[in-house]
Amino acid sequence: MPAAVPARPAARTLPEGTSASRELVLIGIGAGDPDWITLAGVRALEQLDVLFVVLKEGELDDLVEARRVLVERHRSEPLPVVELQDPPRPWRKAPDYDAAVATWRAQRLEQWTAAVSEHLGAGQTGGFLVWGDPSLYESTLAIVQKLAAAAPDLIDVRVIPGVSCVHALTAAHRVPLNRQGRAVQILPARLIAGGVPADVDDVVVMLDGRETFASIDPTGLDIYWGAYLGTPDELLISGPLADVANEIAEVRRAALERKGWVFDTYLLRRR
Ligand SMILES: C[S@@+](CC[C@H](N)C(=O)[O-])C[C@H]1O[C@@H](n2cnc3c(N)ncnc32)[C@H](O)[C@@H]1O
Repeated sequence: MPAAVPARPAARTLPEGTSASRELVLIGIGAGDPDWITLAGVRALEQLDVLFVVLKEGELDDLVEARRVLVERHRSEPLPVVELQDPPRPWRKAPDYDAAVATWRAQRLEQWTAAVSEHLGAGQTGGFLVWGDPSLYESTLAIVQKLAAAAPDLIDVRVIPGVSCVHALTAAHRVPLNRQGRAVQILPARLIAGGVPADVDDVVVMLDGRETFASIDPTGLDIYWGAYLGTPDELLISGPLADVANEIAEVRRAALERKGWVFDTYLLRRR
């Protein structure tokens, strides 16, 4: 029988030789399937003293429910919860997108700092359950790092990875993310509004509320599209972009109509 492998300590932020009295842990819960939380994530969830839950404006009930199910499934003891009502996110209509995002982040930082100071005692661990992986198009980590850096005592920050929608997408379509020895770019949809950059052959597009895939030049591109990945509502379409863009747009609109929200991601691959 192979020797047991000791649990590897997760990466920490504190310098060697220092210790913190409090800890914040960001647990990646995976981007859809409740089985996509890792064993390390489950262990961390079981050990939390308090859970900080961010309630977003127009929050999607299904995503709140997904987190509730995880806590119920993996906690044997009741878990105290501190709710953080998220500041409004006005940047879709804001004339200065970057300034609007900076203001929202500053408001979040102030609110979370006050909540942590009030609810996280010495020797305790507080947690955030983060959709997918905490490092991918997620501001939670940046805000928690700032909060910890400005705290009057040392706060350790720990990050536990989860399955991101990028890997959920490639697994669902059974395709490699990269081609041999080649680069991949991951972009928010607004950065491909003018088309796929000339120097890249594989682009993963996220955060597309505007069917950007249907408005770019499809010449020579294949698309691997997925919505609600890892959930019972999962939708998958792939093929030459010129052939399937309209079908994706129709399926996407019908899903949006049916469920009231849609999360979709796609890989654009130059042939
Ligand atoms: C704020 S980002 C968070 C990404 C997340 N941290 C991750 O690792 O996947 C939200 C975007 O991720 C993508 N996304 C997240 N979950 C998804 C899912 N289950 N199916 C398809 N796309 C998803 C969508 O593009 C959505 O607009």
